[in-house]
Amino acid sequence: MSTINGGHYPALSHRGRAVRPDGYAFGGTPDGGIARLTLSDDDRRVRDWLTAQCLDLGMTMTVDEVGNMFALRPGRRSDVLPLAMGSHLDTQPTGGRFDGVLGVLAGLEVLRTLDAAGVVTEAPLMLVNWTNEEGARFAPVMLGSGVHAGLFSRDYANSRTDAAGESFGDALHRIGYQGPVPSGHTRFGAMFELHIEQGPILEAEGFRIGVVTGVQGLRWFEFELTGVAAHSGSTPMNLRHDALRGAAQVIEGVHRIACENVGAVGTVGSLDVRPNSRNVIPGQVRASIDLRHPEDRVLDEMEREIESLVAEVAASHALGHKLERISRTSPVTFDPGCISAISAGAAAAGFATRDIVSGAVHDAVHAAAVAPTGMIFVPSQGGLSHNPAEATLPEDCAAGAQVLLDALLAYDLQC
Ligand code: GLV
Ligand code: MN
Ligand code: MN
Repeated sequence: MSTINGGHYPALSHRGRAVRPDGYAFGGTPDGGIARLTLSDDDRRVRDWLTAQCLDLGMTMTVDEVGNMFALRPGRRSDVLPLAMGSHLDTQPTGGRFDGVLGVLAGLEVLRTLDAAGVVTEAPLMLVNWTNEEGARFAPVMLGSGVHAGLFSRDYANSRTDAAGESFGDALHRIGYQGPVPSGHTRFGAMFELHIEQGPILEAEGFRIGVVTGVQGLRWFEFELTGVAAHSGSTPMNLRHDALRGAAQVIEGVHRIACENVGAVGTVGSLDVRPNSRNVIPGQVRASIDLRHPEDRVLDEMEREIESLVAEVAASHALGHKLERISRTSPVTFDPGCISAISAGAAAAGFATRDIVSGAVHDAVHAAAVAPTGMIFVPSQGGLSHNPAEATLPEDCAAGAQVLLDALLAYDLQC
């Protein structure tokens, strides 16, 4: 039992195995990671599994029109909105076992623990699995929670296409998770997301729990450079319009711009070279740019620098160019009431905490637009994430789940 605000609450019933191995079975890869792109068959299988687990606990499951899943456990009161917890079950193409998965499975563990201890909260509790947090198959990132928060329309989400040309709407329909409930209709009174840090700070400083105070801003762009695909043997060096050479200069420029703006990060993570043949000068390149910084003002400035960079590189090689911003999220500060419930939860469970700003984005960013929201971080070994070697110690996962439980109960006291 842990104690908080004078009340006695249950400790996790399965200490050390808050993350069930069954959750790893869908899209698991031989290197220990998970490849479970959103709306794939493995995504359908893990959604079916989650539904079965929630129904087993006597919960109801609601699916909205972009596939967001909301499981509900009644509370003593029906006149207050549910307290939500959760994260996402989709992964990067070479993802790890913890990014997103931990927040959903820990939520399930909290619900099982409360059931086992016979605890009924004042507010109903809700477990959420958001659709397409990663944005790896369908850009932008955090699409399902963005539709829920009214930042994107359902039709915009349905129209997004993957690299093979399949639309989000068709893929959602194919796996049978285009639900009947209009997006945004499933409301909650607060949201708590447990997540791995995905960076090195908690491990380096020896903290098991991070209290996330906010999330830095993000901008995603796609750029295209168009030159002339020509013979690599017969075209003299001074008569080429090589799109990949231009892209190389843009990549280097993105790195320089990020280094020149203190606290910024910038990444070109995806490159599509056409025709991608050894003896053809590249005629066209499409690529992504990911910029992040804790201040919108700096991101505005970096965006202007990126626009000039792409235009100047294109002019210097006589290339055609396009630059499109496909995503923008402003920095977010989390709700003081949720932050203090998390701090109180960590204190009750006996963990020292460190305040931390998230470098990665999360569905909690969009949830914060519609309800008080907070996040808990646990350490990532070696700071590694978006990598099959991503790892968090079982006892750290259990600590995070315990704090999630205690934070929810602390918040529930205010209902
Ligand atoms: C989420 O995966 C992010 O890109 O921060
Ligand atoms: Mn995540
Ligand atoms: Mn991720």
